[in-house]
Amino acid sequence: MRLRLILVVLAAFGIGAVIALGALTYDRTSGGRDVVATGKPLVGGPFTLTDHTGKRVTEKDFQGRHMLVFFGFTYCPDVCPAELQVITSALDTLGKQASQVTPVFITVDPERDTVEQMAAYIKHFHKSFIGLTGTADEIRAAAKAYRVYYAKVKDESSSAGYTFDHSSIVFLMDKQGEYAAHFPPGTGPEKMAEGIRKRL
Ligand code: NI
Repeated sequence: MRLRLILVVLAAFGIGAVIALGALTYDRTSGGRDVVATGKPLVGGPFTLTDHTGKRVTEKDFQGRHMLVFFGFTYCPDVCPAELQVITSALDTLGKQASQVTPVFITVDPERDTVEQMAAYIKHFHKSFIGLTGTADEIRAAAKAYRVYYAKVKDESSSAGYTFDHSSIVFLMDKQGEYAAHFPPGTGPEKMAEGIRKRL
């Protein structure tokens, strides 16, 4: 358990570095003259997945709304349910403004997280949650776009014999589907709500 936590924290630092790099590229100045935007932050991008109602969706289906994106899996014993609960509380804190934000939970375990399983699971959290699953290749592509680390690992205590290590960062994307902010593990609902509110 402890090793897994350390891995997840390391993965969080990794993604932080990638974001920092993206921000640097974004703010690069040219020879002391005006600031020139030369690149995009490196998180986010196109994906094709299946939602919890069985509908095929892409990032374009979310345009015009902000997305809160979190990768995990429904059999996760602790990190995922806790994080989805934080997102739920943050959206409750936002009140009316929460209608501008769509929380999206993307599984890294498509083998067990079928459309039906995702639908049953997200019911426990905020009513606007969208659960996304797909083929192993589709999940891999989506995780790569978001620079999300995940790995299947042996787990004798699980009935399936395996579990997943995964980074647990919540990404806020803007109305165009571009990276706006991220919330590292341990961010409380109030802080997350405040971070979302100032970027709406
Ligand atoms: Ni998890």
